[in-house]
Amino acid sequence: MFGHIGAHAGDPILSLNEDFQKDPRANKTNLGIGVYVDESGTLPRMGAVARADAELRSHGGSTPYLPMTGLPSYRDRLQVLVFGADHPARADGRIATIQSLGGSGALRVGADFLKKNFPGSGVWISDPSWENHRVVFKAAGFAVSTYPYYDAASGGLRFEAMCNALGGLPPQSIVLLHACCHNPTGVDLSTAQWRTVATLMRERGLIAFVDMAYQGLGDGLAEDAFAPRALAEADVACLVASSLSKNFSLYGERVGSLSIVCASKAEADRMLGQLAGTVRANYSNPPTHGATLVAAVLCSAELRAAWESELTSMRERIQAMRSAIHAALQAQNLPSGTTLSRYLTQRGMFTYTGLSASQVMRLREAHGVYLLTSGRMCVAGLNRRNVDAVARAVGEVMRQGA
Ligand code: LMR
Repeated sequence: MFGHIGAHAGDPILSLNEDFQKDPRANKTNLGIGVYVDESGTLPRMGAVARADAELRSHGGSTPYLPMTGLPSYRDRLQVLVFGADHPARADGRIATIQSLGGSGALRVGADFLKKNFPGSGVWISDPSWENHRVVFKAAGFAVSTYPYYDAASGGLRFEAMCNALGGLPPQSIVLLHACCHNPTGVDLSTAQWRTVATLMRERGLIAFVDMAYQGLGDGLAEDAFAPRALAEADVACLVASSLSKNFSLYGERVGSLSIVCASKAEADRMLGQLAGTVRANYSNPPTHGATLVAAVLCSAELRAAWESELTSMRERIQAMRSAIHAALQAQNLPSGTTLSRYLTQRGMFTYTGLSASQVMRLREAHGVYLLTSGRMCVAGLNRRNVDAVARAVGEVMRQGA
């Protein structure tokens, strides 16, 4: 029956992570998958989350079915985290928010919702984008195209080309935007550029789908959420997928949210029902544990303050590692024309190194340093013990040429 079905091609990020786990070398370094590890190379258990967990377990913790839309207190706190407590759209009750299975689950539920209601629209993602964006939207039945984004020569943004492309899209086209810490390039829009994009999208009648997977790991919780807040304020039709995998270090709990910003409270109530129907057709209702933990942290002033302070330390450690690898590369004799400023200017967990696929392969084979084939480096995997060795290995493959 299944003999005609071939093997899955694998996933460029998760399959690489599996290859890393199988690599028997002791001095290997994982800078592939987007996971924050601390200075000792360990996946952190955040203190506020551990305290909330201990408290929950002491109560026995029954696990009833949650509503299709998720845990109400979690949904409310997530809406505040994404849009801010005083956002006018929230005050008007115009935002429909559900609990989702991480950011990817939010993207897929949003994609299914959009395919059902805008079947003729196309989806546009940045060039380049997170590898799974194309996969998720294609699986939902969309044709997926790209708009200009990254400037390989400068390691910056092609903003004018991006705006020209968006300005030429048919109305109701769906535009996938990264709120902050762009994956894979680390190149973000300035606040002024976001305002320009918001005006353009509203005038052109485009649908924004914002992916926010790294809130708090770029410049701060509010700073990183500027894009969804500004788009909503400018009355752009807007969906927002948010993930707590990284900023709560709860990867396996699949905690996230999906919001739709609507024109009125009545419309938001209807869209919430539509999202509930989409969830029911996918996985019925979401799991309890992760959402209960997050809600406990975000509903307690004390735990929330502890979480924010730990998140600040994570963000500062990433920035320190950016400076450390920049300095260690700068101290070497590298080919002329090499631009290292990208290690400092790009934001969040990733730097787009500009290394070629064959340089990445040599790094992996000769030095046990794992980057994505695209040249994306997860700087959150660096620490004081491995940064000099990684920089020496990067310098060596650069001197060998592309
Ligand atoms: C990444 O980009 O590495 C992370 O978002 C993990 C994933 O699922 O791809």
